Amino acid sequence: MFETLDKAPADPIMGLTEAFRQDPSPHKINLSVGVYQDANGRTPVLDTVKKAEQRLIEKQTSKSYLPIDGSPDYAAAVKELVFGAGSDITAEGRAVTAHTPGGTGALRVAADFLRRQFPGSRLWMSDPTWPNHPKVFDAAGLETQTYPYFDASANALNFDGIRDALASVEQGDAVLLHGCCHNPTGADLTPEQWDEVGVILADRKAIPLVDFAYQGFGDGLEADAEGVRALCKRVPNALIASSFSKNFGLYNERVGALTVVGSSADAADKALSHVKQAIRSNYSNPPAHGGAIVTTILGDAELRAEWEKEVTAMRERIMKMRTLFVDTLRDKGAPQDFSFLKEQRGMFSFSGLTKSQVETLRERYSIYIVGSGRINVAGITEANMDPLCTAIADVLRSP
Ligand code: LMR
Repeated sequence: MFETLDKAPADPIMGLTEAFRQDPSPHKINLSVGVYQDANGRTPVLDTVKKAEQRLIEKQTSKSYLPIDGSPDYAAAVKELVFGAGSDITAEGRAVTAHTPGGTGALRVAADFLRRQFPGSRLWMSDPTWPNHPKVFDAAGLETQTYPYFDASANALNFDGIRDALASVEQGDAVLLHGCCHNPTGADLTPEQWDEVGVILADRKAIPLVDFAYQGFGDGLEADAEGVRALCKRVPNALIASSFSKNFGLYNERVGALTVVGSSADAADKALSHVKQAIRSNYSNPPAHGGAIVTTILGDAELRAEWEKEVTAMRERIMKMRTLFVDTLRDKGAPQDFSFLKEQRGMFSFSGLTKSQVETLRERYSIYIVGSGRINVAGITEANMDPLCTAIADVLRSP
């Protein structure tokens, strides 16, 4: 009966990478999917990951199942990264962490948890957001709403719009926030704005769900966690979806975590029991390898220090490309000023390119950019900078 099916549309991000692979042009450039590339255009395995894997292979004695929520050592390492060493939330036992397959797995588990424990609650997402967010929440059966996030005319965060919209959030609703490096805009809340959002959500008795996929790619591992930490000082309950795809380069190991904060250790423990049910009915228990790599690196002072340097190097390369991109576009005679890109953080920038300009770039130059105009700055290198900026300036001048 499958012949009666209509074909589903290609994924707006992953589908572009499939098209890119099939493009025979020797000059093609892929700035679509959020994958870090080094100065040579490669996505390397981090040195610390290689070292941790070596150790794991030597000491591994079994491939038996992990617990439904993963290893306790991994959970402790994740909590330290999110809340910092010696945090009150951790000391009070108010946070529990489950190991999930990637940040997307964490979002789905969070969505199932919300749908089952808070029926009727709505999930509020920023407009715009990562195109997979609504799909994950729809698949879990959650009703979704959006709140305005970005002022396209000013190329900046629309905090007044956020504040106004959150005033109509109802008790039990969940509000999705991007922990740092907002995907797709690269525009983040300040720590003061996070605090204000925390006050509003606590007042509305709403549950923040923080998608924290780029820790370390904005201003630093600690600086990027400031918002989440400020928020958690204000709200009794929170859900935090971490991903280690980017900051450990562990994309295909699918390693992430869902951290649940409750008003007490008992509340967190009860929530975890339901999170475990959601996990068991989705994928039973998590894959071990990626989590073991992260635990090994974070648990060893030397490896950890080396990893922090690797994260710094990735972040600084992205920042350097932002500046060079803006300057090269200007030098190529682009008819508009792109200096706002320097203010944005993380892998992505909302370039302001229209859907039709994006299509022209693909058809004429084999340059792949997501339809919303989102550019993966981490895919830009010194080698592709010139042809990229020449093409963009050309398309802006003669669409
Ligand atoms: C992206 O937004 O490009 C990344 O988060 C990768 C993905 O899964 O879409």
